[in-house]
Amino acid sequence: MQHSSATLPVILTGDRTTGPLHLGHYVGSLKNRVTLQTTHQQYLLLADAQALTDNAHNPGGVRDNVLEIATDYLAVGIDPNLTTICLQSHLPALADLTLLYMNFVTVARLERNPTIKDEIQARGFGRDIPAGFLCYPVAQAADITGFKATIVPVGEDQAPLIEQTNEIVRRINRQAGADVLPEARALVPRVGRLPGIDGKAKMSKSRGNAIQLSARADEIREAVRRMFTDPNHIKASDPGRVEGNVVFTYLDAFDDDHIAVEELKARYIRGGLGDGIVKKRLEDVLQALLAPIRDRRRALARDPSHVLQVIKRGTAQAREITDATLRDVRAALGLFTLN
Ligand code: TRP
Repeated sequence: MQHSSATLPVILTGDRTTGPLHLGHYVGSLKNRVTLQTTHQQYLLLADAQALTDNAHNPGGVRDNVLEIATDYLAVGIDPNLTTICLQSHLPALADLTLLYMNFVTVARLERNPTIKDEIQARGFGRDIPAGFLCYPVAQAADITGFKATIVPVGEDQAPLIEQTNEIVRRINRQAGADVLPEARALVPRVGRLPGIDGKAKMSKSRGNAIQLSARADEIREAVRRMFTDPNHIKASDPGRVEGNVVFTYLDAFDDDHIAVEELKARYIRGGLGDGIVKKRLEDVLQALLAPIRDRRRALARDPSHVLQVIKRGTAQAREITDATLRDVRAALGLFTLN
């Protein structure tokens, strides 16, 4: 059953379909989405069109990860009766809105976007940036406004995209002389980015420092065993550091018994607590978190037609909503219509 109330605040968030989801996604957003779906009208966008903006050479990978990510959603507890899961490339109104919005943003502004600047640098694009990549913030503005979402849960690094969205919204509304589109606000999680198991930067599959939501028990054990701790904490009796110590960062993120974690930290700092004991605790916590997700994933994998059905149904619902927004915007701008 779908939410009956049309007055719930609208949330949109999405994931590029470039790889299966991992623990960083779980603490950064998935866990929140499971909670938010009961109090909001939530849409989850499988952003395959956006994924293509830096994956034009790998459309097969972008395709394959659509089902993977949708399966991850369902496995962590996204309920398709509460949340609408939809496929970006099959929502043509979003592409139409993108094209319209392109006229309300300058190339200079796109090039100044801090998110884009960082990403261009990380990918080594230089001047050879695909036009689609430079313009994806405009497409993301279309995603957000297409659903008339007012809340967009994203990582801190994506906040400039919401700002850019709101600039476009204001320009459209000014041109239209009416508030046809609502502004949106970013909902940034309290916990920062989860570092990778190597302690470097954020967790990401391409860096090989991730723990996938689908990780097997032995993979979890191995990842925890390899996890970066305090390189100067050699003997158990040595005093250790907890800052930058990934095992403690993860315990903070995943262990609900905060008092026990604080006690462990105090003992570690004092000296007399070996890495093995702390790692064992973390391993138990992660095994307990991931086992049921993995089991649900396995059950879903046996019935891919169910996942496909969820995407089809959600995309059909999303199509109505985004088509309606496109009609609103066209009418508000006073464009020619044939009906
Ligand atoms: N840019 C987001 C990411 O890389 C994915 C995304 C696409 C998105 N469209 C969106 C997020 C709309 C929020 C709203 O993770």
